[in-house]
Amino acid sequence: MARVELKQVRKSFGSAEVIKGIDLDIAHGEFCVFVGPSGCGKSTLLRMISGLEPISGGDIVIGDEVVNDIPAADRGLAMVFQSYALYPHMTVRQNLSFGLENINTPRAEIDAKVEEVAKMLQIDMLLARRPKDLSGGQRQRVAIGRAVVREPRVFLFDEPLSNLDAELRVDMRSEITALHRRLENTMIYVTHDQVEAMTMADKIAVLRLGALEQFGRPLDLYNRPRNLFVAGFIGSPKMNFLAGRVSTQDARLLELEGGETVPLPADGFAQRPGEAVTLGVRPNHMTMAEDGPAGMTVRSVEQLGGESYIYGTLANGTALTLHLPGQIGATIGETLRVAPKTEEVHLFDTDTGLSLRRD
Ligand SMILES: Nc1ncnc2c1ncn2[C@@H]1O[C@H](COP(=O)(O)OP(=O)(O)OP(=O)(O)O)[C@@H](O)[C@H]1O
Ligand SMILES: [Mg+2]
Repeated sequence: MARVELKQVRKSFGSAEVIKGIDLDIAHGEFCVFVGPSGCGKSTLLRMISGLEPISGGDIVIGDEVVNDIPAADRGLAMVFQSYALYPHMTVRQNLSFGLENINTPRAEIDAKVEEVAKMLQIDMLLARRPKDLSGGQRQRVAIGRAVVREPRVFLFDEPLSNLDAELRVDMRSEITALHRRLENTMIYVTHDQVEAMTMADKIAVLRLGALEQFGRPLDLYNRPRNLFVAGFIGSPKMNFLAGRVSTQDARLLELEGGETVPLPADGFAQRPGEAVTLGVRPNHMTMAEDGPAGMTVRSVEQLGGESYIYGTLANGTALTLHLPGQIGATIGETLRVAPKTEEVHLFDTDTGLSLRRD
């Protein structure tokens, strides 16, 4: 069994603390995605788990063993990098065999395993080629194959698809999830692409500035973001945020900066009269309605045929996006009345950023 547990894991480079005490429990066989903006510490955390980067504090447990002082090569992990890191002078076969030769695996066993993995990843016809004679997608498969032949306890991937074009990324995405289903290993996958995170993960860890913002199943993060950051990061297009103050007369009304008043859910959130709050509404939970409480001036329209996006601003300057089914025409410069679906909104304390959801 190879679960991975982080206990108050820290990392400093000189005086800069870039990982600030992370606790995380990844179950055996789980596909866990680390997601977050550039520089938040995803690669550093992955490299600390791999053993390539020493930790400054805390414990890393793999299986039942604290591995803090165990060298990378002895942790039973395999890492796949964004840059592929293939050996350019070696053929695909040699690239796949190399790790096993290093640990003195018998020749016949190496050959059998390389053939099997090459077939699984559909690179068996490329075994005699060198990396420079492969496409980006094929190189990525070889890099993954090199990890698979070693039969690691845990796979670590650092943005493995970011050098591929959009279509190939989508294909490789489903191939990696299929590989996970087949091998049933624990996998930790780093990306800054929240669509990749949503589609591939059993569990997502959202990181920001070296701290864990939320850890949970993709739809739990989407439906119940803990704070403004997760709410804005998970979901595309981004959640709309409307800042205002809860009415002192009626806690079910939000007075937006600039004067308009929007209804709030009757229960579910713990808002107090007069409190500064931010209403979160996903673009697909906004509607156009003649008696809508807010006026939005249209700035641009995208009609994709099956769905439409309308981008605009409220009177107070807040940007707003509507994602509507079907073909919705709107004229640039016109003002539409819009309304959030009250039962679908999120509510956050503006000062702390934390969700005001009751449970
Ligand atoms: N060797 C190093 N020395 C000093 N600072 C470093 C070093 N490696 C990383 N950092 C810093 O640590 C922080 C986290 O870097 P990291 O590479 O882990 O981010 P990331 O989330 O992987 O970003 P990206 O999405 O751009 O790959 C950054 O501020 C980075 O500048
Ligand atoms: Mg990185």
